[in-house]
Amino acid sequence: MRASVFVRGAALSTPESRGKTLPWVAAILAVGTALMAAGCGSSPDGLGPPAGSMPDGGLPADGGQDHAQDAGAGDGQPGNHADASTPVDGAVGAPDAPPDGPAMVPPAGIAIPGTTQRPGNASAGYTDLVNAGYISIGIPWSGFSAAMTPLDPSDTLPGRTGDNANVGYTWNVSTTSDGIEIVSSNCLSCHAARIPGTNTLMVGLGFQQHAPAIPSGSAVDPTLIALGLTSVAETDEYTEYGAHLLDAVGNGLAATGALAAHHDPATLVWSSAASFNAGTGLNGWVDVPPWWRVAKLNGLYANGMGRGDHVHQMMSMTLFSVHDVAEAEQLDTLFVDIAAYIRSIAPPAFPASVDATLAATGQTVFNQACASCHGTYGANGTYPNLLISASEVGTDSELADKSWLSSAAVAWFNQAPVFSDNASVQLLDGYVAPPLDGIWATAPFFHNGSVPTLAGVLDSSQRPASWAMSFGQSDFDFNVVGWTGASSSNTYDTTQPGSSNQGHTYGDALSAADRAAVLEYLKTL
Ligand code: HEC
Ligand code: HEC
Repeated sequence: MRASVFVRGAALSTPESRGKTLPWVAAILAVGTALMAAGCGSSPDGLGPPAGSMPDGGLPADGGQDHAQDAGAGDGQPGNHADASTPVDGAVGAPDAPPDGPAMVPPAGIAIPGTTQRPGNASAGYTDLVNAGYISIGIPWSGFSAAMTPLDPSDTLPGRTGDNANVGYTWNVSTTSDGIEIVSSNCLSCHAARIPGTNTLMVGLGFQQHAPAIPSGSAVDPTLIALGLTSVAETDEYTEYGAHLLDAVGNGLAATGALAAHHDPATLVWSSAASFNAGTGLNGWVDVPPWWRVAKLNGLYANGMGRGDHVHQMMSMTLFSVHDVAEAEQLDTLFVDIAAYIRSIAPPAFPASVDATLAATGQTVFNQACASCHGTYGANGTYPNLLISASEVGTDSELADKSWLSSAAVAWFNQAPVFSDNASVQLLDGYVAPPLDGIWATAPFFHNGSVPTLAGVLDSSQRPASWAMSFGQSDFDFNVVGWTGASSSNTYDTTQPGSSNQGHTYGDALSAADRAAVLEYLKTL
């Protein structure tokens, strides 16, 4: 199913299609893939078209943009892509030694400073997340409902009202200011997934596949959708959305930055010409992190670049459709509640049995070997919010080096009042040592999802060079805590650019017995 949707060349490479009936869904999914994979022709599953095949006919795909070159566009941001061990915002350093002993590995990084987040109503936030029209352009309901696959009950969520209850969980149905009922992608095409080993759909768990989810109750055939449209106004709505997305994709592959390039930072008014090159030449894949970490995080995203008010960071996806500052300010109110909901999510408990004695031993080892970076857990848990330099942690450096936002896109965000009020984006060459709550459910591991099991995180000799991305309910192994499916049409190939499984060898120094104990302890977090 997914493969046919992702024939991106077919969907996007015909310039004549612009302004006519557009393959809307393929376009948004391609943009989504770009946001996550940002691959210019070498994404692991070959989804990225080669540079030059884009509709704009050869806008240069920025091959490894040197951020130092355009530091002037960085709006005076301190340490744009400086090494993460460079102190920023005056907060340096090693956290206090954990209660059970001295840190075995001193962290080479910085503490990301915190910001008080605006309080909101978590329950209203959930309701808005799964019902509201925060992407205010989309597929008219007439066309969507005519082309929609039958909805299976396993692809529904509680609390969905009106026609939201009649479509797959990745879509929200709303009414435009022109009175057209439309269907738009919501956050859950990437931020919901089945809890491993179960059929339970969980909001906030990152979708594991290298493409947004397409559940039942979706419409993805542009021809069928177009056939179902019933008025000129609906056809206009349909084509406008596709055109915006095409521009975004054609301009570069990091969708957020590409969309920003078309909005004036002060007024957010759309212009057909891009004001800067949003390409970063990033290869590979960015794994979708679980939302339950957000309550502890000072800096969002794998490289910790999203600083300050989380609401302004989360709202960037609405750049797909926002027309002006007034609309963005309304969305801000909505996202205060959505952010409160995201902070309220608790991780799922490990569903299989745990050896409590072994786990207690593991806690002692963890507190010596791991807690200096990842914090401590339980009643008096602490979390140091450290950004570790890419060279220290040694995992694939592509994302830390290039990011999915170019320096110019970062400068745009830091200039746009709607996004930069009490928030900023700061590129530094490192990775956040994430909180490990519910870590068992979040396989595969590391920012690029390159290691399929926790056993492999702890012992680098147990990391497969390639593995099957089947993610089937029966392919999760609770002993090694991760994916061990035998075959799949999707294979993760760690030899591809951005996909290396190297680095983070902190567990290698432990004895096999200590590793087994830490693995048992991690199941309890
Ligand atoms: C196309 C897939 C996709 C969609 C749609 C999407 N996200 Fe994300 N999101 C990601 C990926 C990938 C990351 C990780 C990026 C990184 O770490 O660099 C992420 C990161 C985040 C984070 C930071 C989490 C952390 O641990 O740092 C938050 C918060 C978030 N998204 C909220 C949202 C909200 C709210 C929406 C809807 C308005 C949304 N996302 C829509 C893919 C998506
Ligand atoms: C010097 C700091 C440091 C130490 C010590 C450290 N880690 Fe990490 N850890 C990191 C960083 C940074 C990352 C993120 C790497 C990435 O995503 O590329 C990470 C990632 C992880 C992940 C994957 C998280 C995810 O979401 O995929 C796990 C699991 C983990 N560490 C467990 C451990 C354990 C267990 C220990 C002790 C044996 C340990 N770490 C020691 C810094 C550290």
